[in-house]
Amino acid sequence: MNKGRFITFEGGEGTGKSTQVKLLASYLSLSGVDVVQTREPGGSPSAEEIRALLVTGAADRWSPLAETLLFYAARVEHWRQIIEPSIARGAHVLCDRFADSTIAYQAYAGGLDRHMVEMLHRLVMSGVEPDLTIVLDLPVDEGLKRAASRRDSETRFERKGREFHERLRQGFLDIAHRFPNRCLVIDASQSIERIHSAVLAALKLRLRLE
Ligand code: TMP
Repeated sequence: MNKGRFITFEGGEGTGKSTQVKLLASYLSLSGVDVVQTREPGGSPSAEEIRALLVTGAADRWSPLAETLLFYAARVEHWRQIIEPSIARGAHVLCDRFADSTIAYQAYAGGLDRHMVEMLHRLVMSGVEPDLTIVLDLPVDEGLKRAASRRDSETRFERKGREFHERLRQGFLDIAHRFPNRCLVIDASQSIERIHSAVLAALKLRLRLE
């Protein structure tokens, strides 16, 4: 049985993660690979309930600490119910956001101590890490413009102001810089097709997946 891999997509608002997750999932399924497409916050029934609390309502509805604990409550459920069993049966799991988002949003942008979030991750998730993390990078104004053109109600983080989103972008770039073996930054201002090709190249080169 092939080893299941855990691949995450990260980035700020409007960077096109969900589109790339979908494209990669259909590419892998067409190649006959067992693939699971999922997202955070959410991805399992109980975690989706927590998602609703996190992504709607006033921008200051939760403090960064309360948010972090809610994201981790959702993550623990999602991991246990979906991600871990899928990887164990040999599936490749593609996840739209994971723990790097908590470091970037709640610590770098939200002001919470990064080491505390890292400690929480070690404590409740045994420090689990993706095999590959694609970081989609886009200038803040462009990302927020794209996100605003979507018609949905999940705008709580989009409304946090430009400076928050600048810190967020730098946070993701810093994470990628600190974990170069796991992370790859892709310029998200390119066309959807070019980004998809860059993702496929990364899978080949870094994970030896065809
Ligand atoms: P999405 O729009 O990519 O589905 O993500 C929902 C929002 O939740 C998005 O604005 C980013 C935010 N988020 C965090 O702040 N911390 C986290 O740990 C995760 C997973 C998401």
